Amino acid sequence: MVLINDQGLRMDGRRPDQLRNIKIEAGVLKQADGSCYLEWGGNKVMAAVYGPRECHPRHDQDPTKARVRVRYNMAAFSVSDRKRPGPDRRSQEISKISSEALEHVVLTSLYPKNAIDVFIEIIEAEAGTRCAGLTAAAVACADAGIPMRGMVTAVAAGKVDGKVCLDLSREEDNYGETDFPIAIVPKTGEIVLLQQDGHFSPDELDQALEMATDAAMRVYEMQKAALLARYQAQAQAEDEPAEAEAAPAGDHDHDHEDPEVA
Ligand code: CDP
Repeated sequence: MVLINDQGLRMDGRRPDQLRNIKIEAGVLKQADGSCYLEWGGNKVMAAVYGPRECHPRHDQDPTKARVRVRYNMAAFSVSDRKRPGPDRRSQEISKISSEALEHVVLTSLYPKNAIDVFIEIIEAEAGTRCAGLTAAAVACADAGIPMRGMVTAVAAGKVDGKVCLDLSREEDNYGETDFPIAIVPKTGEIVLLQQDGHFSPDELDQALEMATDAAMRVYEMQKAALLARYQAQAQAEDEPAEAEAAPAGDHDHDHEDPEVA
């Protein structure tokens, strides 16, 4: 399979350093304390955050800080072959690495004995769901008003036909050589997730790291824009209470009217 053509373009027409299209919307669920809907290429992700709230079961409580509990789940209909419902090794791994990444930024010591529950639901999957899920979860945490040292932004680089590329598509993930998801705290440059499936030379590793970090800064701007749009909508609804009652803020029957956050 030819993954990169003679013009240096990938199967979906992207340049090696080009991201898939991304759309982020914050505050899409009424019942959650914070939420985010994110589309990233063919991935569709919903993230919901509850808390900080008393941690149950009690034996899970940490008397010194809040626990950040992430549950990553792929819907049975999210892939072309039906995904067997329920947790598996892969979803447990992604839940764990996502919890660890968010724990680096959430000020957990402010909420001893509490839990911050983060749910990542993959509604449709097309490679790169851990990055899409973690990016959405960080926006949902900020939307919930959880005190954080900074945002978390995840992007993958990889190697396809011997060339370092950004944000692999499904074919590239399946037939490429290397997948390299990372997450950073854009404000500080800290790396809070780094995984590698496949091989890189030292030079390729430097290139992949730089490519993914640069792209993460672009995604970070989209995360901020989504939160800003959410606050602006909320402020507008508070200014116009009568109108807000007729069409409550967060009533996302109207999602299609304002999808272009990114
Ligand atoms: O999604 P991500 O790239 O973070 O993780 P992965 O384990 O490398 O999975 C790559 C892709 O394989 C997913 O995004 C799905 O499109 C697909 N997949 C699938 O079709 N069925 C599964 N049970 C798991 C993954």
